[in-house]
Amino acid sequence: MFIKWDEQYAVHIRLMDDQHKRLFDMIEQFYLALHHRETQRAMSELLSGLTEYSLYHFHGEERMMSLNNYPLYAAHKSAHEKFIITIKEFHERFDSGKLLIPIEVAQFIKQWLSNHILMTDKQLGKFLRQIESKED
Ligand SMILES: [Fe+2]
Repeated sequence: MFIKWDEQYAVHIRLMDDQHKRLFDMIEQFYLALHHRETQRAMSELLSGLTEYSLYHFHGEERMMSLNNYPLYAAHKSAHEKFIITIKEFHERFDSGKLLIPIEVAQFIKQWLSNHILMTDKQLGKFLRQIESKED
């Protein structure tokens, strides 16, 4: 497998973990399509789906951050935005045939998401769990 969700990625917020699992699945699908030399068009559609679901997921996290006055909101949001910009640039190059090594796109997404979950999302998860425990 190219990428697999396991407990080390758990942020212990159910919705975030479920969506991260889905993102990992989508990255795996993208990688498999590359591996099986699917058409450019099929790859492009998978990349669009991945971008759209990432946006949906990021907006959900951002909503939780702003509702709870998360102190690291701005930095976290800007990390999301930079990722989306990079993916869109990759996508444009991919569609125009200028990107010769699409495996790099898969590697980049995998690395970025893994690091982002382990560092940035885990911090957020911890903060949200502290709030939940205060409310109990
Ligand atoms: Fe995030």
